[in-house]
Amino acid sequence: MSLDTGRADQHGSHIHHGSHIEEVNVEHLHGEALGIGMATPRISWVYDSSIDSIADRRATVRIRRGRPGLSWQERTFRVRADGNVLMDCPDDPLAFGEQARIAVAIDDLPGNEDPSGSDDLPGSDDPSGNDDPSGIGEHAWSDEIVVEPGMLGPADRKAAMIGPGWYEPTSDWRHAPLLRTETSLDDRPVAARLYLSALGLVEAEINGHRVGEDILTPGWTVYDHRVHYRTYDVTDLLKAGGNGIGLWLADGWYRGRIGFCGGSVNTYGDRLAAYAQLEMTFADGSTRTLVSNAYDGRWKAKRGPIVYSGLCEGERYDARLADAGFSSAGYDDSDWEPVTEVRFDPMLLEAPRMEPVRAIRTTGPRSIRNLGNGSFLLDFGQNCTQRLRLRMHGLKPGDEVTVHHAEVLEPDGELSLRPLRRGVQTDVYVADGHDEWWEPRFTIHGFRYARIDGWPGELDADDVVAVAYGTSMQRTGWLETSNAMVNRLHENVEWSMRSNFVSIPTDCPQRDERLGWTGDIALFAPTAAFLHDVEAILTDWMDDVAAETERWGTVPYYVPFIPLAEWRVPEAIAIWGDSVVVVPWALYMASGDAQTLREQYPLARRWVEEVRGHLADDGVWDRRPNLMYGQLGDWLDPTAPPDDAARAMTAKELVATSFFQHSVRLLAEMAAVLGDSAAEDDYRSLAEHIRRGFLSRFVLADGRMTSDTQCAYTLAITFDLLDEHDERRRAAGDRLAELVKGGGYTVGTGFAGTPYLLDALCATGHVDVAYRLFLSEQCPSWMYQVRMGGTTTWERWDSMRPDGSVNPGVMTSFNHYSLGSVADWMHRTIGGITPLEPGWTTFEVAPKPGGGIASAHVTHRCPLGLIDVRWKVSDGAMTMALRVPAGGRAVVCVGDERREYEGGTYRLRFDVDPGFDSM
Ligand code: BGC
Repeated sequence: MSLDTGRADQHGSHIHHGSHIEEVNVEHLHGEALGIGMATPRISWVYDSSIDSIADRRATVRIRRGRPGLSWQERTFRVRADGNVLMDCPDDPLAFGEQARIAVAIDDLPGNEDPSGSDDLPGSDDPSGNDDPSGIGEHAWSDEIVVEPGMLGPADRKAAMIGPGWYEPTSDWRHAPLLRTETSLDDRPVAARLYLSALGLVEAEINGHRVGEDILTPGWTVYDHRVHYRTYDVTDLLKAGGNGIGLWLADGWYRGRIGFCGGSVNTYGDRLAAYAQLEMTFADGSTRTLVSNAYDGRWKAKRGPIVYSGLCEGERYDARLADAGFSSAGYDDSDWEPVTEVRFDPMLLEAPRMEPVRAIRTTGPRSIRNLGNGSFLLDFGQNCTQRLRLRMHGLKPGDEVTVHHAEVLEPDGELSLRPLRRGVQTDVYVADGHDEWWEPRFTIHGFRYARIDGWPGELDADDVVAVAYGTSMQRTGWLETSNAMVNRLHENVEWSMRSNFVSIPTDCPQRDERLGWTGDIALFAPTAAFLHDVEAILTDWMDDVAAETERWGTVPYYVPFIPLAEWRVPEAIAIWGDSVVVVPWALYMASGDAQTLREQYPLARRWVEEVRGHLADDGVWDRRPNLMYGQLGDWLDPTAPPDDAARAMTAKELVATSFFQHSVRLLAEMAAVLGDSAAEDDYRSLAEHIRRGFLSRFVLADGRMTSDTQCAYTLAITFDLLDEHDERRRAAGDRLAELVKGGGYTVGTGFAGTPYLLDALCATGHVDVAYRLFLSEQCPSWMYQVRMGGTTTWERWDSMRPDGSVNPGVMTSFNHYSLGSVADWMHRTIGGITPLEPGWTTFEVAPKPGGGIASAHVTHRCPLGLIDVRWKVSDGAMTMALRVPAGGRAVVCVGDERREYEGGTYRLRFDVDPGFDSM
């Protein structure tokens, strides 16, 4: 398996030859959609690059539906070819247990007549018993996508949550149970689905085979608000005769210890339980359901080989306790105990919008160092969220192999474990004398290096594999330039994103934290939405943001929220709270899905209305929140000492007010899209009021600001607090450039200013300064991290200090995505592409080369298809290869030239000033 780091045109998609349609999707899922949470999902399809124009063309959507394994009914619908993004499902609602197979064909020629003569578009319905009612040849159809709704109504949820009934310690280090049952079938089913969930984490086996490839099921949600379930096609695992079903359970987020400062345990409950519902259909049309329950005496529990497992602590596995065959029929479970039912409202079960956490790459060690005495230090070359799979061999019963994991090494070559705090991420394997491959199941680690202790003999590279994990998402963005360090930085951003999109968007994957900090994603969302299709995972998470906001009275610092240490009581704070406006907006710009916006609008409004009440009369947000730090401001600016991340050069009220003004403007935009003109007017004038307050409080007549800092000028410029005709804007830009130069071309911003710093320079005529800063290798800067060997983006500019020592702060991570938000600037400025309309239907192509970067290649898979721009500057000319997807429009601006292009592939040439690339 390899990570999909290749471009979409090389590896990213499956092209069905002849159909000219690369993929068909429903909602924001990619590929098969089993168990989705709706009966009429919207349908999208993407044309391949042989299709340039879809205006005036038609497409046909074919929906075959029925009970899987039985007969099908087919209907076709002639629709407009340009209705290919999130078209309303033209067919009747699907029921639980029903399947639809959807394919699309584009009509061959413009003006092709509909054979039935019907022409009502879109979604015109041409049901017919005919095998090929549309007259479309088989080769012209896209691949079929399989869609099945999950358990939508109360009657569909037939199982109960069951768990072990034995006495357990009330917290920590609890033995993980196994559950099992068996059943006898007269025939092999023609279709079978397993609906699986848990209070805790669960993995299922049927007849000795693992069900699915997901890990950490059901993922983290606010469990007393909703619990995800997953749907698996298990048809091939069942047989006529006896069948065994086994479930592995563990604490996970539900009751395991999570969070910093000692964390929280039993956060959602103290009883583990699993929900399993197996729906089977037989060839004669009959069905049978098997459900987890405590009353039929057929489900049993036992302590398994996982002696304990914590997401942050790691896992201890004792192979001597393993019960091979526990998920097969005929296994002797006479010493197993009956299960008990754990009280649970099955209506809390919810089909996830997004895909599960899965392996995204496997890799071997880059180096192995024998430390003596059975200890080995391994370097996997890449810091990320992963686990080791080890070939245990030559061990005697009771022998222990221990694995410690760390992101970096200390200068003395030891693993740097201190930054992990309580989250020691240590796995232990206890041997039973048999050889086997082993990987922990219910824990996850952030690391590049591992130390293996207790290994018998030599450790061979073939004995170990690192498996990287993350929520499955379609990659949508790539950037490559002529500068290797820039490329490495971009890869680091990508790796930090992958590492932190694990069920929810987290801050870091290694220490005892791994929380859904709202501010981090607020700052990173535009970058995330360029690199991957994040609509599904982020809207799913936003559901919990709304629920927690409701519960706690304001947008919490992190979601799911757990009261921890000084963060016990959520208070309205800028950026973190602004996430409920900026995240939906970033999604809308990426996908063009107004339905998402409509769903998120009430929460965004709620936030703005709440903060409106905190503003001073002049519109400035200067009320100090009742949080130990006050506002978090420009969190972790380079002057923040190791022990005080909130101490910054820039006034916190300035930061808070500028972000709030930005949110209010975006909310006005949202209101406009949704046709709420009264709200639009109201928010426009509120934004203007705040802007005036901001100017009079923070900006002096000569353009200097009360905080004479990079962050202050950056926010004032990028959030349009100084309007274009204002002389003070130019002055602010000049002052910003001066500060950057005065600082020896190093970054002076923290979380708040960093995403916008280079934009502010470019927008005020300082492209050259922006590039010099961007390419600086001095600390603090992006390339400093690259020069120091970073393979991910760091939490602090100096997480590693120039002497190679690890920052002594208690909060030092090497895998945070927020400072990687510079990639958004890279895509727009180096690559040169920016959406002008939601969903990229119109986009700008305006590379601004600099810093000696002589060529770049940027690709974005937008909802319409592939945008691809390759430019090169040499001999006074910029040459460009441009791909505009069918239905899209590119506005190309190079130098003083402005040209527009519709769907198609173009080779362009522009005369540019000498030195264009070295500004
Ligand atoms: C986290 C962040 C977060 C911050 C909030 C840190 O501990 O790692 O990234 O946003 O706290 O102040």
